Amino acid sequence: MINTTDILLIDDDIQSNNLLRIALERAGYSEAALEILAHTCFTIVITDLILPDISGLEILKHLQDKAPQTTVILITGYASAETAVEAMKNGAFDYITKPINIDKIKLIISKALEKQKLIEENLFLRRQLHNNHSFSNIIGTSTAIQAVFTRMGKVVETDSSILILGESGTGKELVARALHYNGPRQDKPFVAINCGAIPEDLLESELFGHMRGSFTGAVKNKPGKFEQANGGTIFLDEIGTMPVHLQLKLLRVLQEHEVEPIGANHSIKLDIRIISATNTNLEEMIANGTFREDLFYRLNVIPINLPPLRERKEDISILARHFLKKSCKNLKCAPLVFANDVFGVLEQYPWPGNVRELENIVERTAALCDSTKIEIADLPTHISGINKPHYQVITTLPNSGLDMAFQLQQIERDWIRQALDLSAGVKTKAAALLNIKRTTLVEKMKRLGIET
Ligand SMILES: Nc1ncnc2c1ncn2[C@@H]1O[C@H](COP(=O)(O)OP(=O)(O)OP(=O)(O)O)[C@@H](O)[C@H]1O
Ligand SMILES: [Mg+2]
Repeated sequence: MINTTDILLIDDDIQSNNLLRIALERAGYSEAALEILAHTCFTIVITDLILPDISGLEILKHLQDKAPQTTVILITGYASAETAVEAMKNGAFDYITKPINIDKIKLIISKALEKQKLIEENLFLRRQLHNNHSFSNIIGTSTAIQAVFTRMGKVVETDSSILILGESGTGKELVARALHYNGPRQDKPFVAINCGAIPEDLLESELFGHMRGSFTGAVKNKPGKFEQANGGTIFLDEIGTMPVHLQLKLLRVLQEHEVEPIGANHSIKLDIRIISATNTNLEEMIANGTFREDLFYRLNVIPINLPPLRERKEDISILARHFLKKSCKNLKCAPLVFANDVFGVLEQYPWPGNVRELENIVERTAALCDSTKIEIADLPTHISGINKPHYQVITTLPNSGLDMAFQLQQIERDWIRQALDLSAGVKTKAAALLNIKRTTLVEKMKRLGIET
């Protein structure tokens, strides 16, 4: 069934107009067309190509800009058939030549409506899929994490700049990725840069790119992270570590939506969503002059606060179960379960390393557990409170006394070796098991003379 109220006819030819008006019970007139189109959204617009005060092509262009979902059908005299073909190339759905055949136009309209229905169904299904999957990899049922989901839901479809705040290991990067991969830019790049992990003198070129020969060592042109992320999202992690002179350059990029690589005399237009994150208090940094206030307001359009794990204890057991399942899969071992009293112990611990620490502890415990059930005694002693040191207890004191630094090095060496064994030599994994940064692990291995 054609819903005639959704169809606008723009034609100055009284004869064909009358004919169509009778057939479709709806008519519009050229002089009023744009006025009507500005206020009403039509499913189908049928317009003559040549009108006294405006051309059908102009109407087509207007609709393509303002209402791309509207289907445009053109009416043309024989002489302008070529233009009609051109118009179809520009997005018109079909064209009808005069004199108008009512059956033909009805057929075209029903085809157009069929196409619209398919587009809508497709959109509906994609939304359903999106709703089912959104943020599903972020685990938690606490009121605090639900508030985060609500805030994420409100901003996911927008381009607003987001500043994610939270202690280390609370899931800032996870949230940033979820916002990108559930939003309209999901098919475009997500580029993360950890401003704190890149030496200060390299950060500028990493972010903005450089031209060949612009400084010693710049042997070829290199696109910066902004250029790589164009069309998508850039995630500026540990934004609080950015040196003040680069903060100004970053501010300019954000204000002007373009980036100029070092040594270039041209700039590149940017269409980018900015998500930044920090575990430092930027307001304090502003007060002591180490962070620009104007940049802070640019980045912090919508803040998302990730509360520390100790403030959302309800999530601990569900997260622990989730990580245990994941660990068993990674370790390719039989499914393990927690004894019921383990959760109470896990909830008592303050988790200074937040979710990341919990994930590491579960992974380590699963890897070392000999039975199918994890008991309190299987947890590391600093969590279980059971005095079962992981290192050799010294029972006799040598004559020369103890060299504390030497003894601690032995323990470190031992733990690092164990972690490397458990991770089959993969340093990133070993560092995660030990809850230290990969760079710290590499530095310690060098100092302690440990080879992979
Ligand atoms: N709610 C959650 N559900 C599932 N996994 C989580 C959750 N929060 C964090 N994680 C996991 O914990 C680890 C740390 O998260 P992430 O790297 O996002 O934290 P972060 O806040 O960016 O930490 P840092 O400040 O140290 O960079 C990741 O492996 C992440 O997948
Ligand atoms: Mg992070």
